[in-house]
Amino acid sequence: MHAFLTLCVALLPLLVAGAPPADPCAAIAGKTFVPPADALACEKSFPFNETLRQNVLTNMARVFDFFTFEEYYLNSPPPFQESTDNIRATLARINTTVYKTDYDFSIDLYDFTTQLNDGHTRWFPNCYTSFQNILPAPVVNIEVNGVQGVFVAPDSVEFITQLGTNFTDFFDSAGFDWKRLAGARVVEIEGQAPFDYVDFIAKTVSGNYLDHGVRVNSVFSSYRISNTDFSQRIGDLAGPTDVKQTSLKMKLIPVNSTTVESVDIPFLANYLGLPFTDQASFWEANCAANDATNGVDLKASGFRAQNRPRKLATAHIIDKSQSNAIGLPPPFIPNTTTVAGSTGVIKSFILPDKKTGVMFLGSFEGDFDGFQSDVVAAIKQFQTEKITQVLLDLTNNGGGFVCLGQFLHQYLSGSNFGYPGFVSTNRANPLAQKIVAADIALGLDDSLTFYTADNWAFLNGTQMPPSFNYINPSSPFVVNGRQDPTSQRFHDTCELSFTQPIPRTPPLDLRFVLSNGNCASTCAMFSTLMNERHNTTTVVFGGRPGESIQFKGMAGNQVLEWADLDTEIKTAGVKDDPLAPPDLLVSGNFRHNWRTAWSFFDENTPIAYESELPTLRFNYTAETYNNPQALWTFA
Ligand SMILES: *[C@@H]1O[C@H](CO)[C@@H](O)[C@H](O)[C@H]1NC(C)=O
Ligand SMILES: *[C@@H]1O[C@H](CO)[C@@H](O)[C@H](O)[C@H]1NC(C)=O
Ligand SMILES: *[C@@H]1O[C@H](CO)[C@@H](O)[C@H](O)[C@H]1NC(C)=O
Ligand SMILES: *[C@@H]1O[C@H](CO)[C@@H](O)[C@H](O)[C@H]1NC(C)=O
Ligand SMILES: *[C@@H]1O[C@H](CO)[C@@H](O)[C@H](O)[C@H]1NC(C)=O
Ligand SMILES: *[C@@H]1O[C@H](CO)[C@@H](O)[C@H](O)[C@H]1NC(C)=O
Ligand SMILES: *[C@@H]1O[C@H](CO)[C@@H](O)[C@H](O)[C@H]1NC(C)=O
Ligand SMILES: *[C@@H]1O[C@H](CO)[C@@H](O)[C@H](O)[C@H]1NC(C)=O
Repeated sequence: MHAFLTLCVALLPLLVAGAPPADPCAAIAGKTFVPPADALACEKSFPFNETLRQNVLTNMARVFDFFTFEEYYLNSPPPFQESTDNIRATLARINTTVYKTDYDFSIDLYDFTTQLNDGHTRWFPNCYTSFQNILPAPVVNIEVNGVQGVFVAPDSVEFITQLGTNFTDFFDSAGFDWKRLAGARVVEIEGQAPFDYVDFIAKTVSGNYLDHGVRVNSVFSSYRISNTDFSQRIGDLAGPTDVKQTSLKMKLIPVNSTTVESVDIPFLANYLGLPFTDQASFWEANCAANDATNGVDLKASGFRAQNRPRKLATAHIIDKSQSNAIGLPPPFIPNTTTVAGSTGVIKSFILPDKKTGVMFLGSFEGDFDGFQSDVVAAIKQFQTEKITQVLLDLTNNGGGFVCLGQFLHQYLSGSNFGYPGFVSTNRANPLAQKIVAADIALGLDDSLTFYTADNWAFLNGTQMPPSFNYINPSSPFVVNGRQDPTSQRFHDTCELSFTQPIPRTPPLDLRFVLSNGNCASTCAMFSTLMNERHNTTTVVFGGRPGESIQFKGMAGNQVLEWADLDTEIKTAGVKDDPLAPPDLLVSGNFRHNWRTAWSFFDENTPIAYESELPTLRFNYTAETYNNPQALWTFA
């Protein structure tokens, strides 16, 4: 009787109001893989909110004042024209567009910044970047009988199977045999010639790299080091960070067949966010601002940078496909002699010819001192084993600490070479000038800020004193007819953080630097230094036939995450200034490229806009696209 009454009371609201609207987020809670339409239903269940739009757009408009390349976008120089955008006009359009849901607004902003193609300058709304859509048919661009073509990756079965039965059961229960597609020749995608569709994805999905040719390579599946492990990237066609597509139509010729078939391949979305149970907890977990969203006043927090005397500058892209990195299938992991110093982001080998050493640099991230000792350990072993030639592989190196790129350059070229970096500036906007003035008045230094002058050196190599004002007066500069004043020009002071002794002269014969062009930020600065200062041979694999491709992807100088910039503003005590961006009310990150590295070829051109093509270009083959050792042996 009691239980019956309780049940009646519980049911009462339902009886009065009819069935409650189903919660589309509850329907997918606790699942690793969900159909993209179900993920999208959850994401689209939050109505558009004008307060949030004004908050995010005001934040972005004021952060853009710090973005060093803003004025270049008005008319991006060749071969980078594809990125041209009137940033202020686009912000005004988004301010007046009618949106139905918060998703529609947020994704419009996400797509806009993605298509600026500057991996340092992107809006990540964490609410809507928490899924990776996965197609069980990643594509590659390989040469067969002398001609490049688009194929479903021949190793798809070994590769995709690693996602586990939660992924593969979905296709089995739908009766979709994805395994038979492995290695198929693709003849049409969504009604377009395969390379035309690849260009479309490079233009609309990939982002990160100013150069279109480099983005073409991001569309395909490729080998990489993720964190400290060999991995295979799914590629942007088969692994985008959005859930708009539910399936992809291809016409293809399966292996051992001569008949063209039409297939409609389903996507399945992989959830990368924090646990939730329903719509409200999905918002709390992924969408609402949290303690890490905005910056802090470091004067108040007793902060010491990573237990170091100074903060460390970074330059890296955010590749969401790192969150659930899938391993490189074991048969394709190098099996030749491993060299010392290979437990971190660097994997070094001696090829079976016993003459060639290889350093595969997965990134410049992770253990700052460990990276330096790993470089030294590998090179010492190459010397001991009388290695006569060394090649560096920078494939899919997304960057990292600015000073680790300069360390590697300095170590390879010797201390006699002198300054190992670029001439640099930041933007002298009025708020930046107020920050530096306030830092000086407060007596701050590089232990708490990136803005104080002791982060830099004069061009003669002397470190600037922290009280030096290098940004006011500013230096005039004009881009696309707009005044765009900068700070004084300065050098980095990376040698202060080198923890390994540098040889005076080059320790070995560096033959060449190779990659797929997806070499971002610190990696792009390093490879540009090797080209501009040493004329080192650069080699790039892949790219669309007939289209050019740069050897560097995205050559910004230093990135500030939104929280980093906000920390500079709060620590300087200028958060109340009308030019200061407001704290974000949502969980998101509007990062930006904060410094420019100027080319040695033309001191008025940022290296980002200096077209630098590889010395040599080769095609991937079925043997090399996922097999680093086979590629190095070929090279
Ligand atoms: C499969 O997904 C369930 C939740 O839906 C999870 O509990 C389980 O650990 C997953 N299995 C694997 C092998 O990942
Ligand atoms: C819009 O968002 C703000 C800030 O999170 C919140 O206070 C407000 O309640 C929201 N408005 C509606 C109608 O949900
Ligand atoms: C958006 O437009 C409204 C109306 O013109 C204006 O008041 C507001 O300041 C604009 N918001 C931003 C972020 O520019
Ligand atoms: C790469 O393939 C294209 C055809 O797609 C061919 O013209 C070119 O010569 C090949 N490059 C090399 C280095 O073999
Ligand atoms: C294709 O044919 C070859 C030779 O008959 C065979 O070894 C191979 O297993 C076949 N591959 C597939 C996917 O059917
Ligand atoms: C380097 O230049 C600065 C600024 O002009 C100057 O103060 C300093 O004395 C110079 N240092 C040397 C070693 O010449
Ligand atoms: C750079 O090296 C290439 C050969 O790899 C050579 O043709 C070229 O002249 C060199 N350029 C300079 C400036 O030394
Ligand atoms: C080692 O890897 C290479 C390249 O993938 C391959 O050709 C060779 O057969 C492998 N050797 C052994 C012993 O597995």
